[in-house]
Amino acid sequence: MKTLVAYSSITGNTKKIAEVITQAIGEGAHLEDILQKPETDLYDLIILGFWIDRARVNQDMAEFMSQIKDKYLAFFFTQVGWPYGPTAKRIIAQTSQKLVESNNILLGDFHCQGRMNPAIIKMARRLPVTHPRGGYSLARAALLAESQLHPDLEDLKLAGEFAGKVVAKYRSQISN
Ligand SMILES: Cc1cc2nc3c(=O)[nH]c(=O)nc-3n(C[C@H](O)[C@H](O)[C@H](O)COP(=O)(O)O)c2cc1C
Repeated sequence: MKTLVAYSSITGNTKKIAEVITQAIGEGAHLEDILQKPETDLYDLIILGFWIDRARVNQDMAEFMSQIKDKYLAFFFTQVGWPYGPTAKRIIAQTSQKLVESNNILLGDFHCQGRMNPAIIKMARRLPVTHPRGGYSLARAALLAESQLHPDLEDLKLAGEFAGKVVAKYRSQISN
C-alpha cells in the first residue's frame, strides 16, 4: 500500500502531526509538503493535513484538495480553536462534503489544537474586546494560552491511533 501524507504547515504544528502519522503507517508511507506538488496519482491512500486560516482550510490546501478525485482519503488539521468546537465541526462537515463530491472515499478525520504564532498573539493583545474580528477577551486569552501547549503528547498519541484506524479501514474496504 502506497500512502501519501501531504501537508500544509507554516509554523510546524501540522507538520509534526504529519510526521507522526507517517511514522505510524511505516512502510510505504511518504511525507510531502504540498508546496512540493506531490503526484497524488502514484498513491493508493492520501492523508491530507492542513492548518486553519481565518476559520477556513488554508488557501494552498483548498486548491490542492480540489484537484484530488477518485481516491481513498483521510484528513486532519490543527487550529487554535477548541477541539470539536463550532468551527472545527463546520470544517469537518464542509471538507468531508467537498471530498466526497469529487468521488473520493473518505476514511476518517482528526484534529487538535496547534500553538498560535506568538507574534500574532502579541498583535491580538492590542485589540479591544469589542473589535469586530473578535477582540482580546478573557476567553480568547485562555484559548491562545492553551494553544501554546499543543500539539502535546496526547495529541501525538491520538494522531498515531488515527493513522492506524485509517489504514485498517482502507484494508477492509479493498478486501470487500
Ligand atoms: C493568519 C492566521 C489565521 C488563523 N486563523 C485561525 C482561525 O480562524 N481559527 C483557528 O482555530 N486557528 C487559526 N489560526 C491558528 C492556526 O491554524 C494554528 O496555529 C495552526 O496550528 C498552525 O499550523 P502550522 O503550525 O502547521 O502552520 C490562525 C493562524 C494564523 C497565522
